[in-house]
Amino acid sequence: MVDIGAVFANLADTGEPPLISQLARASWLAGVAKSAVKLGICDRLSGGKRTAAALAKDMGIKPLHMEWMLNSCVSAGLLENVGDAFQNSKEGDTYLVKGKPAYYGEAFTYLSSLGTLFDQLDTAMLSTEAVSHEMVFKTEEEERAYWTNYMLAMDQWGGRMQEEMLLRSVDLTGRKKLLDVGCGSGVYTMACCAKYPDLKGVLFDQQKALPVALSLVEQRGLKGRISSLAGNYYTDDLGSGYDAVLFSGVLIQESPEGQITLLKRAFDAMNPGGIVIVQDILKIGPYTETSPKIALESLVATVFYGGAGGVVSGDDTEGFMAKAGFTRTRQIPLPGVYSIVTGVKP
Ligand SMILES: C[S@@+](CC[C@H](N)C(=O)[O-])C[C@H]1O[C@@H](n2cnc3c(N)ncnc32)[C@H](O)[C@@H]1O
Repeated sequence: MVDIGAVFANLADTGEPPLISQLARASWLAGVAKSAVKLGICDRLSGGKRTAAALAKDMGIKPLHMEWMLNSCVSAGLLENVGDAFQNSKEGDTYLVKGKPAYYGEAFTYLSSLGTLFDQLDTAMLSTEAVSHEMVFKTEEEERAYWTNYMLAMDQWGGRMQEEMLLRSVDLTGRKKLLDVGCGSGVYTMACCAKYPDLKGVLFDQQKALPVALSLVEQRGLKGRISSLAGNYYTDDLGSGYDAVLFSGVLIQESPEGQITLLKRAFDAMNPGGIVIVQDILKIGPYTETSPKIALESLVATVFYGGAGGVVSGDDTEGFMAKAGFTRTRQIPLPGVYSIVTGVKP
């Protein structure tokens, strides 16, 4: 695997301030990878090595442009040189070829699309208006494509490791009805329903987010067990009679007051004895440092998604749960993206 730190170090010329010039050029390499995925370069090389000239001819691209693009993809670690030809690197072949079991292209595209937000971070920070990530859409089609990609990215994320950690951390034996608030692709509800045959799921999200979730539910053969409710989780009916409610990757977008309000709404929709599960990026247990990831995730969450959220601690989340009426709260630090805090409705 390419040492990306060494590649970045090499982007600074002798005499330039290394850190500053690496930062200035970091988006170049990201742009190469993003375009390579959009052009399907790893897909096209999945059958084996090709020369730049042959690929250029297939794709109607100028050979000279292709030559330098492929060399730049080598720098980004997606391809390797083989004589005068190019082939996928192990990473490129495993994660960026559509249809392969570990395909991660949707998550890559979603994460790299957030680069557009970072391009307007300065204006967003100076704006007195609430700034939404939706402001970047020029057409409805672009917006639809964004939502599809966003939901599939959430699905790839969840499916890689987090669903397993959730299933290992929280026992839903005997639970009958799970509400997934801000469900995204519904990946966690689908995993829970697959593990617990008596469990039924309700997916709650904004209308524009639900079509992808519902088609995944159908593809995974869970149509009879998982239904959906569309709306705003602050104002619309969440249903009732739940004995488990999940907030995954949702509360980070909300202010402390918002989190308490949402937890209270969950409390009201649950049966006594019901369990609330908050799965999110949290400063918790051994993971309390403000890592680069925590800083950047919080920046996106606060500036572009509602303006008041950001990463809080496991203790904060327990406090919000207590204010909403939950007892027997428990923190479960996990090594992945998300940790978990649970509480019980008395
Ligand atoms: C980061 S995603 C998390 C998706 C999913 N729970 C997961 O962990 O993969 C946040 C989700 O919250 C939903 N959401 C944001 N604000 C909402 C609101 N006011 N009402 C309903 N859903 C909302 C978004 O549409 C999105 O699907």
